[in-house]
Amino acid sequence: MKYKACLFDLDGVLVDTAIYHFKAWQQLGLNFGYQLSEEQNEQLKGVSRVESLERILKWAGKEATEDQKKKWLIEKNEHYLELISHMNPSEILPGVSDFLHQIKNSGYVIALGSASKNAQIILEKTELIKWFDAIIDGNSVEKSKPNPEVFLKGAEALNVKPEECIVFEDAQAGIEAAIKAGMKTIGIGDEHVLDQADKVIPSFLNISAEKLLKFQETV
Ligand code: BG6
Ligand code: MG
Repeated sequence: MKYKACLFDLDGVLVDTAIYHFKAWQQLGLNFGYQLSEEQNEQLKGVSRVESLERILKWAGKEATEDQKKKWLIEKNEHYLELISHMNPSEILPGVSDFLHQIKNSGYVIALGSASKNAQIILEKTELIKWFDAIIDGNSVEKSKPNPEVFLKGAEALNVKPEECIVFEDAQAGIEAAIKAGMKTIGIGDEHVLDQADKVIPSFLNISAEKLLKFQETV
């Protein structure tokens, strides 16, 4: 089996934007007197903006009209955009640039498969954009992870088959989406949390792409 493509989630895999999402959701929660915890924020990783708000309202026991929800979604995103406006290449997670370099040199094609509607701006600010042959983000899909749409569209854009793709994800919903898409999965984070992934690494630091991507020998 020859793998041809690597598909990357953005938030928590290439850059750590979770802290900015957390700040913005926390601030929004305070508008209606709710204090969002770090544990709850964990459960929002990989989850779309709309679904994140639904979960927070449920936790807070807060009812809201559709108009109110729209207003809050805009408010949260405006705050988030302000927070990420200062991002730069120093916020690329450890080992990521080197790993991208390695896979590019080995001939893999590379796509982004992210739920975020702000992916493009983050890739530009961090200068990661140069590595990508295709970008599929929250603006390109109708169904969010764990639906496989984002990764299937990524494979299509790269002109490869799903079984030729390897997905890198830090969220359970993302691993589930990649499995449904029929792709190989590498979890970034805790192996107890990402137990459905084919392999799990704590980060890209000191990772040899050649060794990591030899599935046929180890899985
Ligand atoms: C995911 C994040 O990548 O994107 C989630 O893990 C976030 O926390 C989702 O809610 C949507 O992001 P955005 O930028 O469109 O609000
Ligand atoms: Mg993620």
